Amino acid sequence: MKFYQMTPAQRRDALMQSGDLTPADAAFWADRNVLPEAIADALSENQIGQFALPLGVARDLMVNGQMYQVPMATEEPSVIAAASNGARIAKLNGGVTATAAKHVVVGEVVFDQLADLQAAQLVINARRGEIKSLADAAHPSIVRRGGGLQQVETEIIAHFLKISLIIDVQQAMGANIVNTICEAVAPQLSDWLGSPALVAILSNDDRQLTTATVALNVETLATKTTDGATIARKIAALSDLAQVDGARAVTHNKGIMNGIAAAVLASGNDTRAVSAAVHAYAAHSGHYVGLSTWQLVGDQLVGELSLPMPVGVVGGAISALPAAQAAQRLGSYQDVATLQAVLVALGLVQNLAALRALAGPGIQAGHMALQANALAIQAGAVGDEIQVVAQQLQQQTKDLATAKALLTQLRLQKGE
Ligand code: MEV
Repeated sequence: MKFYQMTPAQRRDALMQSGDLTPADAAFWADRNVLPEAIADALSENQIGQFALPLGVARDLMVNGQMYQVPMATEEPSVIAAASNGARIAKLNGGVTATAAKHVVVGEVVFDQLADLQAAQLVINARRGEIKSLADAAHPSIVRRGGGLQQVETEIIAHFLKISLIIDVQQAMGANIVNTICEAVAPQLSDWLGSPALVAILSNDDRQLTTATVALNVETLATKTTDGATIARKIAALSDLAQVDGARAVTHNKGIMNGIAAAVLASGNDTRAVSAAVHAYAAHSGHYVGLSTWQLVGDQLVGELSLPMPVGVVGGAISALPAAQAAQRLGSYQDVATLQAVLVALGLVQNLAALRALAGPGIQAGHMALQANALAIQAGAVGDEIQVVAQQLQQQTKDLATAKALLTQLRLQKGE
């Protein structure tokens, strides 16, 4: 039997037999199952176990006057604390305003072996109505839901003819819908042009932007040691820096994506698609720049973030993952526009919290406090021991050796 045809247990056995998996690790992977095995096995190939991440909640993110509890799945300490902190400051100032553009996904069918590109372009332009009928027939259910092919555009790029299909995917992320339509239409286009298509696939580029803005009274930005006006000035300067220093822009945007990627993952959406679109957009001017901007306007610090947000609230892995559905219920994402608005608002407050920490005490203070928990766990602490060791670590060198020594001491004290 081929590896991909085996059950997860058989695959673990096969890996043990080949000496690639120890019996202890095989038992480890067998034990930690949250998803029903059949679902896990159907979602991705060669499955041998499951990989769990903590799910946390960014509390009270106020967007367009509504309060959202945003589920986030992440392994990075500080991210959810920072998101909640940013959300708290935004709430003090009336919350974030966010609007999403119409949700469409573009598919492309490209030809590379045409003798006369201009003539081919005219053929396609003249047959737009027929292309629409083919697309509708390829995916009748999206048409019934009010979506489907909206527009056909053609473009000659170098020696390629690109036919872009602009598709309204309604509440889905849309990759499957668009790929189905592209692959269904391509053979007919090939017939008309007398040449096979080079490729028929969605584009993960997305220029339908969701924009979030927030206006903060500078006093609400004060930290324990620095007044709000100073923090606000430094946040605006950091924002300017991210527009001119590419190296800083990447980190600035990584911070924005800390929140967005975690919430996208929890919602059952494709984090790679979102990252690809977001980072491509960060370079749309020809230079990779910071995605958010912060400006001092009178006594307010005004933040703005515009991003493509290719996600959905139905379809894809969402229907297969009970955790994604539960997370979406917690997030109250009643439609795709709401999810897009919440995600971009989250990115903005996540960025605010990071820049405020950088402008104030730096990020290590908060980060290392949370890192102590991870060290305690690595040292072998369980249950209540984790908190005790983590607390004691605050006053000491935060490394594994110290964590282990503290744990040994604690257990001696407990008489173990
Ligand atoms: C850490 O994961 C993210 C930050 O580095 C983002 C930033 O520097 O803006 C804090």
